[in-house]
Amino acid sequence: MALVKRCRPTRAGGLPALLVGALAVATTLTGGPAHAAGQGTLHELAAAQGRYFGSATDNPELPDAAYAATLGSEFGQITPGNSMKWDTTEPVRGQFDFTKGDVVTDFARQHGQTVRGHTLVWHNQLPGWVGALPSAQVEAAMTHHITEEATHYRGVVSAWDVVNEPFNEDGTFRTSPFYTAMGSDYIATALRAAHAADPDAKLYINDYNVEGRGAKSDALYALVSDLIDKGVPLDGVGMQAHLAVQYGFPYQMQANMQRFADLGLDVAVTELDVRMPLPADAAKTATQTAYYRQVTEACLAVARCVGITVWDYTDTYSWVPGTFPGEGAANLYDENLRPKAAYSAVRTALGGDDGSGEGGDPGALKAQYRSSDASVGDNQIKPGLQLVNTGGTAVSLSDVTVRYWFSSENGASTYSTWCDWTPIGCSNVTHRVAAASTPKAGADHYLEVGFAGGTLAPGATTGEIQLRLNKTDWSNFNESDDYSHGAGTSYADASRIAVYAGGELVWGIEP
Ligand code: G3I
Repeated sequence: MALVKRCRPTRAGGLPALLVGALAVATTLTGGPAHAAGQGTLHELAAAQGRYFGSATDNPELPDAAYAATLGSEFGQITPGNSMKWDTTEPVRGQFDFTKGDVVTDFARQHGQTVRGHTLVWHNQLPGWVGALPSAQVEAAMTHHITEEATHYRGVVSAWDVVNEPFNEDGTFRTSPFYTAMGSDYIATALRAAHAADPDAKLYINDYNVEGRGAKSDALYALVSDLIDKGVPLDGVGMQAHLAVQYGFPYQMQANMQRFADLGLDVAVTELDVRMPLPADAAKTATQTAYYRQVTEACLAVARCVGITVWDYTDTYSWVPGTFPGEGAANLYDENLRPKAAYSAVRTALGGDDGSGEGGDPGALKAQYRSSDASVGDNQIKPGLQLVNTGGTAVSLSDVTVRYWFSSENGASTYSTWCDWTPIGCSNVTHRVAAASTPKAGADHYLEVGFAGGTLAPGATTGEIQLRLNKTDWSNFNESDDYSHGAGTSYADASRIAVYAGGELVWGIEP
């Protein structure tokens, strides 16, 4: 059984089912172009929703002119991937070097972008001298480092990942020179030092594998609750969101974001990417696309989710292959700076077009079905079908097909098919019966429906398409065990009816 590849979940804020139904009478297929190509950048689309859309970057990449052009135009926020870390900014105790970080903030200023500072206190990419300090000196060194760096970037960095990755996977505190010297109090001390140096910057604790509910996010929740109770300056939690297609989507991501928001904190997706075992294939890419879409939808559904940052936007400069050999293809753009399906999915989730300039987002289509057939044992099958566009952009129907599977039983193997009525006009609908390439019980043939052209507007439905088929010898069927058959007489979502766009499954489960 092939699973749904691009089944789009209804997103919060989307059209309720009743409204979609009500639109059926008012909606038509429209000719002409679906929409203008790529209207608005990712950041402009996010900004229209009160969010930002950003990318990590790094100094060695910035001379790449093609890369920098998209970085500077598509994204409204940047995070330096390495150049504000401790090993770069204070490689020798007391000797600060902000040269590389300044290159990134200069780029941001030239392109009207905000900057997320990353990161002041982290166990990784620490210069050796920090680990060699006697415990009694660590607090002073940490406070000094935070004070110097946050002061240098005061008014330039709008949000800081003050403490990065403080937890182990089981929710215990991670060992680091800071934890060893101060226990978990180092976190409050770091936040207070950052606030003193830059009272206007938003201060965050940032971690990975805290996107969904679980032991690690529970520990983060307990920590930030305690910090709030104690009056420690803290503005938000950063959820890195380094996802992987093989490990599933974070459990209850939206609800998890919401519980932090309910504490009065901002939530930011700070390092989003979705890696996969290489080579990429259609199924992995579909999963990746869905994950990017779902993260975007989760953020938009939580009022305090302030924005999304991808951990660089192109596979060319991804950290993944260097850390997970054999994995990659994690980013929104490929190595030729071509946007992927995930990019289109994020755009449409943000309420824009898919950026292709054609076709809309067929992943937003769903099929609904009702039986118009009182008798399951007579010589005709009468499915009622309709398509609904659950997305925010018009979808071209010119290469969309729908399949309804049934069993042929005995008798003739040739068929007649009919469109009896549809509000979009039967002349706009094509229909035929074809034999399944891998016949299954209840599914050795299918009725395939297509469209002469036109587009389906956002939130619109085709309205019902009353279909009918018979064998040319008018022998009887037994519909009761047909794969796509259902007894419901009102239109309802039908997962056993498949929708394809350009031959790719976008809705439903094949037999
Ligand atoms: O700059 C040196 C170069 O001179 C040397 O030739 C080369 C040889 O390995 O290494 C270069 O340094 C690398 C550095 O990135 C700059 O490219 C380090 O080896 C490499 O380990 C380092 O990786 C960074 C990683 O953090 C380190 O943990 C990634 O670029 C960076 O994207 C990644 O970012 C982290 C976030 O800070 C926190 N969350 C997870 C995320 C992904 O790991």
